[in-house]
Amino acid sequence: MSVSEAGRLLATPAAYTDDRRLHEALALLRRQSPVHWVDVPGYTPFWAITRHADVLAIERDHALWLSAPRPVLRAAALDAELETRRARSAGLRTLVHMDDPEHHALRAVGADWFRPKAMRALQARAGELARRHVDRMAAYDGRCDFVRQVAAHYPLYVILSLLGLPESDFPRMLRLTQELFGQDDAETGRGGTPQDHTSVLEDFLAYFRDLTAERRARPTGDLASQIANARLDGAPLDDNVAASYYVLIATAGHDTTSSTIAGGLEALIRHPDQLRRLRADPGLLPSAAEEMIRWVSPVKEFMRTASADTHVGGTPIRKGESVLLSYPSANRDEQVFADPFRFDVARDPNRHLAFGSGVHYCLGAALARMEIRALFAELLPRLAEVELDGEPAWTATTFVGGLKRLPIRYTLT
Ligand code: HEM
Repeated sequence: MSVSEAGRLLATPAAYTDDRRLHEALALLRRQSPVHWVDVPGYTPFWAITRHADVLAIERDHALWLSAPRPVLRAAALDAELETRRARSAGLRTLVHMDDPEHHALRAVGADWFRPKAMRALQARAGELARRHVDRMAAYDGRCDFVRQVAAHYPLYVILSLLGLPESDFPRMLRLTQELFGQDDAETGRGGTPQDHTSVLEDFLAYFRDLTAERRARPTGDLASQIANARLDGAPLDDNVAASYYVLIATAGHDTTSSTIAGGLEALIRHPDQLRRLRADPGLLPSAAEEMIRWVSPVKEFMRTASADTHVGGTPIRKGESVLLSYPSANRDEQVFADPFRFDVARDPNRHLAFGSGVHYCLGAALARMEIRALFAELLPRLAEVELDGEPAWTATTFVGGLKRLPIRYTLT
């Protein structure tokens, strides 16, 4: 594969369905062109950043590197459509689209709900939901698609419980999240046009606008009520910003963690020595969860745009040009990780960047860690045997995703 082919893969959703080829391309870029200009039809050109040190330096300099106006990679036509909507205050406007000072103030609205102290309070509920989902596996008679029947539901239940939504609405949220992140995948998306994508957003925003009105009228002490009744500079949040806040939490808090849980189980199945080691020593669960997050890196990229002429690793970058931060690449960087392609449940140190860094550092990192540990703490002691029962399949996406099918055969005690 040539370096330019490797670069093009970063703007090719289908490339993310073939882990081996993707990592071959990323390793080539790290070695030969770590700051690489990608110009492919249908996309505004960008610089692909593949080394850990460069990703970290960019994330930490949030005065130079802005999230607006291009926080993630999308086809140019969709970007234009979303920008028009945002300008009319009708589109999604979340923390990931904003820079300080606006970002800082809005992040503070929900931040307390995601601190370790709040997570300890949620732990019992997560444990109960983990048990419920493992019990469901027991009912499937030794075979299931672990993604569709377990991993896709559990984190959604946790995050929607935190938001305070009724369980009867969970299936609808699941479908919308999958349609949103799986937009480039023929099986999960609604279709390939910008209108197909924005129709999913409209459904999301409509649901959450109603929720804002309801929680303003009757606050219930949940996270949704906190957002609905928050005030910035003395004024309530704009309806669209409040609705976008829920969309961000419901979506970011779901597909990421479910992909990590499914990819984590797949890694354990493919590395039986690591599975045995973890079963023998549950004290390794925290480092194993961290390794699963590094291994899967369910968020494939975020972008930043230079607010002034600058350099990255000696390459000049002009004001207004965008960089794509490749987390899967940073997390396999040979300069930082000893033997990066080894899945090691006891890896220490593990300085992965799967949650980003700096002011946009993942708001839900403590929640994700707690959920992953809770699920495996429940599953592993009961999982006497497990093996693949067919070929796994991945979602075609350049943004958030992972396995969409993981057929397994198992014995549960
Ligand atoms: C932001 C990864 C789970 C909520 C982010 C970012 C990444 C990320 C890479 C952007 C960081 C940056 O730009 O520097 C992950 C991974 C997860 C996960 C790998 C699971 C393994 C969650 C969960 C929630 C969540 C469970 C729950 C609500 C958010 C929010 C932001 C964010 C609200 C935006 C923060 C901001 O812009 O200030 N996440 N995430 N994430 N994540 Fe997560």
